[in-house]
Amino acid sequence: MTDSKSQEDPKSQVEAARKAFDEEFERFARLRDASAQSLSSADAETEERALADFRTRHLGKKSALSACKKLIGKVAPDGRAAFGQLVQQTEAEITGRIAEADEHLNSLVQAARGERERIDVTLPGRRPRRGHIHPITKLRERIEDIFVSLGYAIEDDREIETDFYNFAALNIPENHPARAPQDTFYTTDGFALRSQTSTVQIHALQRRGAPLRMIAPGRVFRRDTPDPTHNPMFFQVEGLCVDRGITMAHLKGTVAEFLRRMFGAQTVTRFRPSYFPFTEPSAEFDFSCFKCGGGGCRICKQSGWIELGGSGMVHPNVLRIAGVDPEIYSGFAFGLGIDRMCALMYGLDDIRLLFENDVRFLEQFD
Ligand code: DAH
Repeated sequence: MTDSKSQEDPKSQVEAARKAFDEEFERFARLRDASAQSLSSADAETEERALADFRTRHLGKKSALSACKKLIGKVAPDGRAAFGQLVQQTEAEITGRIAEADEHLNSLVQAARGERERIDVTLPGRRPRRGHIHPITKLRERIEDIFVSLGYAIEDDREIETDFYNFAALNIPENHPARAPQDTFYTTDGFALRSQTSTVQIHALQRRGAPLRMIAPGRVFRRDTPDPTHNPMFFQVEGLCVDRGITMAHLKGTVAEFLRRMFGAQTVTRFRPSYFPFTEPSAEFDFSCFKCGGGGCRICKQSGWIELGGSGMVHPNVLRIAGVDPEIYSGFAFGLGIDRMCALMYGLDDIRLLFENDVRFLEQFD
């Protein structure tokens, strides 16, 4: 708009400003029919910004309407009041319509946001998946319960040992051939991962002295190549009973009673002479197959018996080194592996399955 034109006809300038507003306002007027569903919250926010720009262009200092205001003083006195009124009215109308559109847009933004953030309280919750006890732990707990009921304490001890506790104190001196099948893993500073829970016999006697009745369940390690019946890490339960007058008869009675409670009253136990450096005499023990009752089946390899562990009368050297006088006390000890027992009980053909932590496998044993 030129100066000459404005002087010629200020009124037409107001009309022009008004017309420009009307044309451009179309876009916002159309939004009046929009609902929260038809307009995304991002679109509504874009429109809000566009409306703010639009307001500056039509009502701001540099707007055509603002220019018209400046003209008021220049209009001839007889038409000035009417012109002033026209400008004011136009301004009020434009302000009002923009405010209305703004309010509407605002409510659309709120509604769209509400829709996006809505929480459906009727949806079923996400339940945490409950785990269950590992089959080996289950078996260990059953064994613990039986021995606790027989008056035994549960000892939990270290898995990293010195050569002394893993071998020497158990009457296995350096270069003794019994070290070979018990070979284990060593740390660079000379510690050994225990290869048997028999180590706990020494710790427990040193800590608690005699008389003592305890079992020690736990992890042991061997330098074994994994195969269906071997794993370099497995579980044992050690048992020790030291008191005055303990004999082999107590050992037999205790093991037999444990196995009856474990596998049923009909279970028969058998002892076979054997050798262990830390017991004298020593015996291995078997029990009648829990599946066939002794007749012979796939589980007991047709023998009717399942081999379970080693045992014997604690060697006087072991008692002595643990600070117990073998002239006063005697004791029996036994050790059994629970992984193979677990595999037999659950009919597994590979014990490694128990250590792979595959949930699809483990969840079968809930
Ligand atoms: N520690 C033996 C092993 O790992 C098992 C064992 C045999 C433990 C005889 C004993 C025992 O306490 O008296 O093969």
